Formats: sequence, C-alpha cells, structure tokens
Amino acid sequence: MLKGKHIILGITGGIAAYKSVSLLRLLVKGGAEVQVVITPAGKEFITPVTLSALSGKPVVSEFFTANTGEWHSHVDLGLWADCMVIAPATASSIAKMANGVADNMLITTYLSAKSPVFIAPAMDLDMMAHPSTHRNIELLRSYGNNIIEPETGFLASGLTGKGRMEEPEKIVEVLDRFFEKNENQSLAGKKVLITAGPTYEAIDPVRFIGNYSSGKMGFALAAEASRRGAEVVLVSGPVSLDTPSGNIRRVDVRSAREMLAACESEFDTADIAIFCAAVADYAPEQVADRKIKRGDMPEMTLRLVRNPDIAATLGSRRRDGQTLVGFALETDNEMENGRSKLRRKNLDMVVVNSMRDAGAGFSGDTNKITVVTAEGDEKSFPLKSKSEVAADIIDCIEDLSV
Ligand code: PMT
Repeated sequence: MLKGKHIILGITGGIAAYKSVSLLRLLVKGGAEVQVVITPAGKEFITPVTLSALSGKPVVSEFFTANTGEWHSHVDLGLWADCMVIAPATASSIAKMANGVADNMLITTYLSAKSPVFIAPAMDLDMMAHPSTHRNIELLRSYGNNIIEPETGFLASGLTGKGRMEEPEKIVEVLDRFFEKNENQSLAGKKVLITAGPTYEAIDPVRFIGNYSSGKMGFALAAEASRRGAEVVLVSGPVSLDTPSGNIRRVDVRSAREMLAACESEFDTADIAIFCAAVADYAPEQVADRKIKRGDMPEMTLRLVRNPDIAATLGSRRRDGQTLVGFALETDNEMENGRSKLRRKNLDMVVVNSMRDAGAGFSGDTNKITVVTAEGDEKSFPLKSKSEVAADIIDCIEDLSV
C-alpha cells in the first residue's frame, strides 16, 4: 500500500532515532517517496548524510539553507504529504506539537500538514508517565492525530517500563493498514442515512428544550461513510459544524418531529441507517406564539408530551437487507440499557457511550464506546478521536453483513 505514497518522516532528538533509519529503509523499500524532516536535536543522534543517502533526498532541518538562502517551505511540504510520521517523538516535541510552539522546521511542518499524522512517542518511563505528557498526548489525539503507543520494555536509561518506540516493522504495518482503509470503497453503491446533533423543542419563539450534543460524532460517521464510497444523507439538528466534504447531502432540522419527517422520506431507499442524534424524548405540549413574559408568576409549569421515537418508528417498518444502528448515551447500567434499546427499537447494533467515562459522549473530540450486536456480541474500544471511533463503528457495521 505504500507504493508511490508521499511520506514525511519527522525525527526528533531521542536515542530511539537510530530506529528511524530502519523505518526509513522499510518505507523506501515499500515504494514510498520519503522526505525526512529532522529537529536540530535529532541531528545529535543521527546524521543527515545517512538519512539523505537512504531517502535519496536532501534532509530538511532548517527554514533555509545557510549558504544559498534557499527557503524550505513547510507549507508546501504539508500539502505534498499523504501522511506524516513522527518517530521518535520526544516529550518536548510532543509538548510543542500539542501547544503549537513552532520553533523549528519539524513543528512548523506538523502545524501545516493537511494529511493524517502518526506520532510514535519514545522516552524514559517516568517522562512517559508524567501527567503533562499524558495531557499533551491526549491533546494530540483530540486533534485527530494517530498515536502509535510505545511499548513496555528495556529502555536506554537501563530501566524497564513503558516508553520504547514501537518497532519500525509495526509502524509500517500501521501505515499500510491506514492506506488500505483509506482506499477502501467498501460502501460504494450503498446509501447511508445518519442522524446527528440535538433537537430543539420550542417553548416560545425565543426558548427551547435542547441538549449538549454538538453533532461531532454523527458528522464524523458521515465523513467516514462517504470516504468509503457511500452516498450519505445527514439529517442534522441545530449544530455549528461545516458539512464534511464528500458525497454528503445535509438536511437541517430543528425538532424531533422534523427529524422524523426528514428520515421517513429517505429511509426506504437507505441500506444503512445510523441514529446518532440526541433526540429530545419530550416536547412542550403547547408552543406559545409570543415570548412568555416573566410577569408576576412565582413559578411556571411546562406540560410536556412524548416525542416520536425515530429509531423505533423506522425499526418497526424496516425491510430485509437494511442495517439499523442506534446509540445509547447512558449515565448508569450502560450495557443493560443498551441491550434493552437494541431490542425495543428493533436494531442490529447499538453503540453504547457513557457519561461516566472521561472524554466520552457529548461535545468533545473523543469518545469511548462499546458496540453490542443483536447476535449478542460485545466489543469495547479505548478512548479515541471521534473520527477513529467512526471508523471502528463502520468496521463493525461491515462485519455484521459478512
Ligand atoms: O454530538 P456529539 O456532541 O458528538 O455527542 C455524541 C452523542 C453523545 C450525542 C452520541 O454519541 C450519542 O450517544 N447519541 C445518542 C444520544 C441519545 O439520545 O441516546 P438515547 O439513549 O437517548 O437514545 C437511544 C437511541 O434512540 C439513539 O440512537 C437515538 O438517536 C434514538 N432516539 C432516541 C429518542 C427519540 N425520540 N428518537 C430516537 O431516534
């Protein structure tokens, strides 16, 4: 899968830089065109001569070549690359990337990169375990960067623990899998209906009942399904997100009833429906046609009536060959509630996320899920960026139909 790919190999100043030579050799052997970008500290560990001999290109380290004044454009490099791999990534470079400290060519290239970024940390076990390193790595993950976790083993310091850079062969496997997935058109010819975001249930012309859904999870699913070749219809409640690029038709709605109506007109021709929206279960019985005044009322009662359940309504009229996936956002009894929603709504799969897990659920850029299928299979995933979670969910949907 590496053949013809443009890869930036970023090398920072750590002892594991010796492994970058093997990584570079493997990438070139696999047919990739590799541009090495090294930090000034990286050059203390490995010479640019070795790296340029192996890559067949001058190594970039400074913003310009001192004797000729030739400018090295980090922006052009960022546009050229199909992916960027930073291996090894030291604690210091990770901190700079996480916080945008653009004081060398490698960090400016990272900040300009339009392509996916893979980061392979390498450091001593205590640095790896420090809360600041954890926080910085989580920040990078939240930007959608892929972290290639370090291994536990014998370290250069003589100590044993977590911090060994992943082996070059394994890093190449990660990249191979990434390119394979990216070129995967497994959903070509399929129509995927996705609901996303919150619903707003009007109280009067200026007030509503809503929730904290940002739409990020549903939009990430739309992007992933479209990347795999699907025709996507994204029915979205009120959110402030741009529609991802690709074959995605967005239908904006406000209330649960509007969301149901939009889904009903798309459902029969859909092959897959994913109900990711956080739909309000109740709406005010009466919507005041004028702004309700504070007046003298010491208290106010709002009478609510049940909204239609979109997933259950469509689940009851599904046809053969359709795959239906719901979500369950829980605060307790997560798995039991998830399984019960799966049965009640006649779904094939439910994605459970819990408000008890840090970084999961509403608003943020990450989520932590367990997938439950109608066959009774369960699969839990670690905390990941919402785009990675979307890829995991769609992998699980594809496994259902195998
Ligand atoms: O948008 P983000 O900020 O990225 O957050 C993502 C998310 C937390 C909203 C998402 O991951 C999620 O969990 N979505 C479902 C939230 C929810 O409302 O769950 P629920 O357990 O109340 O509903 C169960 C299922 O029935 C869901 O698939 C829901 O879309 C569907 N439902 C619920 C009520 C209703 N009236 N109609 C429905 O279709």
